Amino acid sequence: MSLSIVIMAAGKGTRMKSARPKVLHKLAGQPMLAHVIGTTATLAAQQQVVITGHGAEMVESAMRQAFAQAPLKFVRQEPQLGTGHAVQQAVPVLPDDGITLILNGDTPLIEASTAQALVDACDGNHLALLTIRLPDPTGYGRIVRDDSGVKVLGIVEHKDASAEQRAINEVYTGMMAAPTAQLKKWLSRLNNNNAQGEYYLTDVVAMAQADGVQVVAAQPRDEVEVLGVNSPAQLADLERRHQLAQANRLMEAGVRLADPARFDLRGQLQCGQDVDIDVNCIFEGAVQLGDNVQIGANCVIRNAVIGAGAVIHPFTHIDGDTQGATVGEGSLIGPFARLRPGAQLGAEVHIGNFVEVKNSTLAKGAKANHLAYLGDATVGERVNYGAGSITANYDGANKHRTVIGNDVHVGSNCVLIAPVSLGDGATIGGGSTISKDVPAGQLAVARAKQVSLAGWQRPQKTKAK
Ligand code: UD1
Ligand code: MG
Repeated sequence: MSLSIVIMAAGKGTRMKSARPKVLHKLAGQPMLAHVIGTTATLAAQQQVVITGHGAEMVESAMRQAFAQAPLKFVRQEPQLGTGHAVQQAVPVLPDDGITLILNGDTPLIEASTAQALVDACDGNHLALLTIRLPDPTGYGRIVRDDSGVKVLGIVEHKDASAEQRAINEVYTGMMAAPTAQLKKWLSRLNNNNAQGEYYLTDVVAMAQADGVQVVAAQPRDEVEVLGVNSPAQLADLERRHQLAQANRLMEAGVRLADPARFDLRGQLQCGQDVDIDVNCIFEGAVQLGDNVQIGANCVIRNAVIGAGAVIHPFTHIDGDTQGATVGEGSLIGPFARLRPGAQLGAEVHIGNFVEVKNSTLAKGAKANHLAYLGDATVGERVNYGAGSITANYDGANKHRTVIGNDVHVGSNCVLIAPVSLGDGATIGGGSTISKDVPAGQLAVARAKQVSLAGWQRPQKTKAK
C-alpha cells in the first residue's frame, strides 16, 4: 500500500524568540526537521511532503541541501491557520488511496520503528494515533475514550477542554496515520469554531468515529520520541536527554566515558575495544576510534579516523571537514594540537602543543613536538621537525608543496619556502630560511653568520640635566 509522509513545519515558533525558523534549530548538530526527514526516509514511502510557511525559503533550501539525493516535496502554507489547514495544503499532492503518515517537524527524536508501528496500526483502514500518558498533560490534546476506555471518541484540545477532560492524562503526540481517501474527505469538512479560531487536524478523529472508521492508538517506545520543542529550554533539555541516551549506548558497548553528562556526539561515532573518553569532548560528523584509543578532556574531533592505541591529549582540535583526517596507530597528539583537513598521520607520529597540520602526510615515527606549522607537506619517516618551524606554503596566489625525506632533522625556527624538497637524512640548521632544495645527507644553514665583538660597550644612560 502506498505511503505518503507529511511533515508539518510551517509554524513560527514564537517562543524560540529567534529570527531562524524553529525547525532549523539544531539538535545534536542537525536541524530538528532534518532528523524527522532522515529518520522517516528509511520507511518505504512513496513521497515525503514538507509543509513550510514561516521562513519557508530558508527551510526549503536548507533541506534541499541536506537531502540532495532524496527528492522532497515542499508545499507552502500561507497564512498558517492551524494543523488541519496545514495538511489541507498537501491534499493536491496526495494520491487517492494508500496511507498518509502525519508528523511534526519540531519533534525530532521520533524513531522509524515507532512511525512504522503507527503505519501498521492504520493498516489502510483505521485511523491510528500516537498517544502517550504524561504526568502533566497541560497544553496537549486529550484522548477522549468511551466509558469502557476502549473506543477513542475524539481529541479535545487543552484550550477547549472541560475541567473533567483536562484530568485525562492520555494525550495526542501530534502524529497520526490515516487512510488517505478518508483523510481528504475529513479535511474538507474542518471548521475553525474553537477556542483558538484554528483548523484543528485533531477534529478528524471525531469524524472518523462518526463515519464508523475505527480509531486505534499506538505508543512510542520512549517519551523522548514525542517531546516537541517550543523554547530554548526545551531544546536544551531534549539535547541532554538525547546525548545521555547516546552516551549510554556507547557505554553498553564498552566505551568508557569519564562522565556521560559531559559528552556530545553530533553525528556517528564508531569505537573499538577499550576506548577511554575524558570529559567535555565533542564528536562531529563521522568519527572512528580504534582499539585502546584515549581521548583527553576538552577535545573536538570531526570527520576523522584515529588508529588503535593513539592518545589524543587534552584540548586537541581535529577537523577533517570534507577531506578527512587520519591519525595512525600509536600516535601521540596534543595537548593543544590542531589537525586540519587532509592531515594524514602514519603510525607513531608525535604532534605536540601548538602544532598545526593541514593537507600533509607524515610517515611513521615523524615528530613535530612544539609550536610548528606543516601545510601541504609530505614528511618522511622518523623526521624531527623543530620547534617554531613552518612551511611557507602560500606565495600570496598559489599553494606549493614541501617534501621532506626520511630521517631529516629540521632545527628550530626554520622557514621552508615551498616548493622545496629536503633529501633523505638532510639536516637544517636552526633559524634557517630554506628556499632551495637540499641534497640528501647534507647540512643546510641559511642564516647570517654569528659575530662576537670583543671589547664592545653597552650604551650608558644619559644623566638628566
Ligand atoms: C498539536 C495538537 C495537539 C497535540 C500537540 C502535540 C492540533 C490542533 N493539536 O497542538 O492535540 O497534543 O500538537 O505536540 O493539531 N503547524 C503548521 N501550520 C500551522 C500550525 C502548526 O505547520 O498552521 C505545525 C507546527 O510548525 C508544528 C506542528 O504543526 O510543527 C504542531 O503545531 P502546534 O502549534 O505546536 O500545535 P499544538 O498547539 O502544540
Ligand atoms: Mg506544539
